[in-house]
Amino acid sequence: MSVDVLLGLQWGDEGKGKIVDVLTQDYDIIARFQGGPNAGHTLEFDGIKHVLHTIPSGIFHKKAINIVGNGVVIDPIIFKKEIDALNKLEVDLTKKLLLSKKAHLILPTHKILDAASEKAKGKSKIGSTLKGIGPTYMDKTGRNGLRVGDISSSEFKNRYDKLVAKHSRMLDNDFMDFDLDSLEKEWFEGIEVLKSFTHIDSEHYLHQAQKEGKKILAEGAQGTLLDIDFGSYPFVTSSNTISAGACTGLGIAPNKIGDVFGIFKAYCTRVGSGPFPTELFDEVGEFIGKVGNEFGATTGRKRRCGWIDIPALKYAIAINGVTKLMMMKADVLSNLVNIQVCTHYKYNGELIDYLPFDASEDTIEPVYKELAAWKEDLTKLSSIDNAPSQLIDYIDFLEKELETPIVVVSVGPDRTQTLNR
Ligand code: GDP
Ligand code: IMO
Ligand code: MG
Repeated sequence: MSVDVLLGLQWGDEGKGKIVDVLTQDYDIIARFQGGPNAGHTLEFDGIKHVLHTIPSGIFHKKAINIVGNGVVIDPIIFKKEIDALNKLEVDLTKKLLLSKKAHLILPTHKILDAASEKAKGKSKIGSTLKGIGPTYMDKTGRNGLRVGDISSSEFKNRYDKLVAKHSRMLDNDFMDFDLDSLEKEWFEGIEVLKSFTHIDSEHYLHQAQKEGKKILAEGAQGTLLDIDFGSYPFVTSSNTISAGACTGLGIAPNKIGDVFGIFKAYCTRVGSGPFPTELFDEVGEFIGKVGNEFGATTGRKRRCGWIDIPALKYAIAINGVTKLMMMKADVLSNLVNIQVCTHYKYNGELIDYLPFDASEDTIEPVYKELAAWKEDLTKLSSIDNAPSQLIDYIDFLEKELETPIVVVSVGPDRTQTLNR
């Protein structure tokens, strides 16, 4: 049985959490393959909003098994908070949530190193979520990291102390007065919570499940344009957010990937620094941000807003091998005077339709095609057949340009506000 992959095609926050929750009824297993608590995946149903950071977005369904894969980095402090919140809602977790022994741990000092790195960069900072993501992946590739499977070792505390000592040597004076004792207390409480879950060799578990014909969905975090290799480097995260990340982050063989669901907003947002060719600095951008409630689910930061970007989407579709597209937040565009679609960039005096190496405001200029907007409120639509003709034209135009079917149009944050095509 092949494994389907769901991921973001833009700069994150496309609405992945909502769609994973909607799709989970069709799957036996939901497995997160990369990222960590930099992610904020929002789900809404029965009038309640939930935000998940580390835990896969299938957790609210009774039957599905949820796996945190080897490619994920876990902060025990944040993990404990997520578990406490789910316990309050009486979500049964013990049998449904499994952790890869190979997932790496975020230490308190990783977060301090993240803050120190951002401070040192000054104006050219990444705008990191300050969750310690970069330093933790650096220790992973530097072969210094601690993993979930190490927790049960008698050497664990010793290895922890050694890594903290190494981090302390890396920090400059500004950051030397951090209160490690209180951070450590919380961290080791989180370690106890991690211990109470089942730790598995998730690659073996998933291979067995594939043999048994189980349906598996791999859940991505962040988005393609934040990928460490293919994103707008250095303004990216530190993992492979693309479909290949599901192979390395779960041990899924490339020839076992089935559908790749590419999630995108009907416009674009970005939080943190870095190039954003179609960014709006006017009242239209303000309008989209306000109606779309574009504030980060993890940091609360205001998201930058702009028009949809076809060259960037084409790039993301090609890199991921997207088979099906899902368009989110169409409802946010109601009541605009018109909609602009970036179809090309002007680059060195030429028209191109791909993302060049140096895609900054200084080198590329977006070229737009204007489409008609609609006045109707979409949030109560129960079928795409009743959608305003301008929305249908917008979808048809995008589908033709992107040469990939748009199978879902989302018209609100709730599970029920999801239209199939
Ligand atoms: P993720 O990181 O990709 O899971 O996305 P986030 O949860 O960070 O951000 C998406 C935001 O948009 C959340 O607040 C969702 O509740 C909300 N959302 C998702 N789909 C829709 C939609 O179709 N319309 C509206 N208005 N909001 C949506
Ligand atoms: P989800 O899964 C949006 C951004 C940060 C920053 C850059 C690097 O909710 O879509 P990091 O903390 O990873 O070192 O930050 O990446 N970023 C996200 N932006 N959604 C996310 O996750 C993000 N995770 C990281 O704002 O620009
Ligand atoms: Mg998010």
